[in-house]
Amino acid sequence: MVQKVHVKIIINGKPYEADVEPRLLLVHFIREIAGLTGTHIGCDTTNCGACTVILNGKAVKSCTMFAVQANGKEVLTVEGLAKDGKLHPIQEGFWVKHGLQCGYCTPGMIMAAYQLLKRNPNPTEEEIRWGISGNLCRCTGYQNIVEAIKYAAEKMREVD
Ligand code: FES
Ligand code: FES
Repeated sequence: MVQKVHVKIIINGKPYEADVEPRLLLVHFIREIAGLTGTHIGCDTTNCGACTVILNGKAVKSCTMFAVQANGKEVLTVEGLAKDGKLHPIQEGFWVKHGLQCGYCTPGMIMAAYQLLKRNPNPTEEEIRWGISGNLCRCTGYQNIVEAIKYAAEKMREVD
């Protein structure tokens, strides 16, 4: 029998604890133990970026690490972005600029954009395209996603 490991991860400011198998992926901890299904699984092999979350301030593909590696760390998922019933500017940008069709890639795109705009509040179009280059979208052709991130960047600069 596999020895389980006790893991505690803070997700969106709330602690989640469980005894898990060492091979449990972080994305499965987020979806199945924390019940936060906004983080999607598109490939399970580090290709698509649908599972992107922020771990201690850095964007990671949560299918690419084990839950035990996130023990004691802080994770931000798409569910943690809206505040007081108000969409985060990046979420608003995707809504206003129609940055999605099926929406499957959207949570990962939003979290990749979150990291991009934290590092670079005024990115060029090329920098935006580079910033989301680890995230695949099968629907939109990317143009409206880029527009959504430009919208968010402008809005976030106004607030700061
Ligand atoms: S599900 Fe993680 S990169 Fe595709
Ligand atoms: S909106 Fe369908 S995969 Fe991106």
